[in-house]
Amino acid sequence: MGKVLGTIDELPADYRDELARHNATPLWPSIRGIIPFGMPERRARPHIWRYREMRPLMLRAGELTPIEKAERRVLMLGNPGLAPEPFATASIFFGLQLVLPGETAPNHRHSPSAVRIVVEGEGGFTIVQGERCPMARGDLILTPAQHWHQHEHHGSKPMVWVDALDAPTVMRLDAAYCVPGREQSTSDRPDASQWRYRGAGLLPYERLQRTGNAYPQLRYPWAAVRAALADFAAQAGRDEPVHIAYVNPETGEPCMPVLGFSALMLRPGETLAPPRRSTSAGFVVIEGEGESEIDGQTVAWSENDLVAIPNHAKVRHRNGSGTRPACLIQVDDAPLQRKIGIFEEFDAARA
Ligand SMILES: [Fe+2]
Repeated sequence: MGKVLGTIDELPADYRDELARHNATPLWPSIRGIIPFGMPERRARPHIWRYREMRPLMLRAGELTPIEKAERRVLMLGNPGLAPEPFATASIFFGLQLVLPGETAPNHRHSPSAVRIVVEGEGGFTIVQGERCPMARGDLILTPAQHWHQHEHHGSKPMVWVDALDAPTVMRLDAAYCVPGREQSTSDRPDASQWRYRGAGLLPYERLQRTGNAYPQLRYPWAAVRAALADFAAQAGRDEPVHIAYVNPETGEPCMPVLGFSALMLRPGETLAPPRRSTSAGFVVIEGEGESEIDGQTVAWSENDLVAIPNHAKVRHRNGSGTRPACLIQVDDAPLQRKIGIFEEFDAARA
């Protein structure tokens, strides 16, 4: 530390020209930009997309562009620090998707994985590999990489959900592509969350020997998650966060390979300061209102708002109500960071 590094200007012009001709670049003038001391260079900023502002824009998209001309009618939520890339954080794509009554978003599959978090409407379905997943507010539905999926809507009012994709990572791998498919046929059987994976700690007996399916449960109904949060909150100590993870019921591992999903309840009046983490994150407000202080910037949120949290940020959440809980569904890139060995939690002393 403290050594003065060589600059590009002190290299002779003929040498720089020769390097450029060979598509080569010296590392040392920019090494601190690539691996700065102590804290990564973070382009993403704390940011909030307020639903009351985004909803009219979604509905207008429904008037302006028929689904046949959109394939997917999605507004991409781009972090101002990452522009022109339309990503919420370095690793998280957030979109708001609108499906109007009677519309069908056609069948396709692609290499990025997607997860839907429903924020408005009822009567919609996502069909994943022939499994028909009903969509109600707060439900979380997986469409893992290369799984066929289509959306349809039989209700009478608009349906809106958040799309959370690992597209930033897959695109940086130059590996993002899509395949169109014929309309899927479905069985009349309910989705697996309603019978095969009905409750925590219970598995179909055959699964003790055979675990061929990496994604045995595709839908995580909010009603079950909300009840679990309430029971957790009733017993947890005041210093224990009411925070539960969406996992593969057979393995206990995160439900998706790159992005992780969890539900957090802030009890009435609660302030929660989680440890500073190396991950980037975002959350969708499912219930209640409050505010989050992210690296010193405070954003006030209410139902259906989306918030982006940069990597390594110092975060403090506050429930704005003294009588009602607030519930958030959080997305982070902890599964990928753990796989490549860069996940860190910093204690308060280092934070
Ligand atoms: Fe898709």
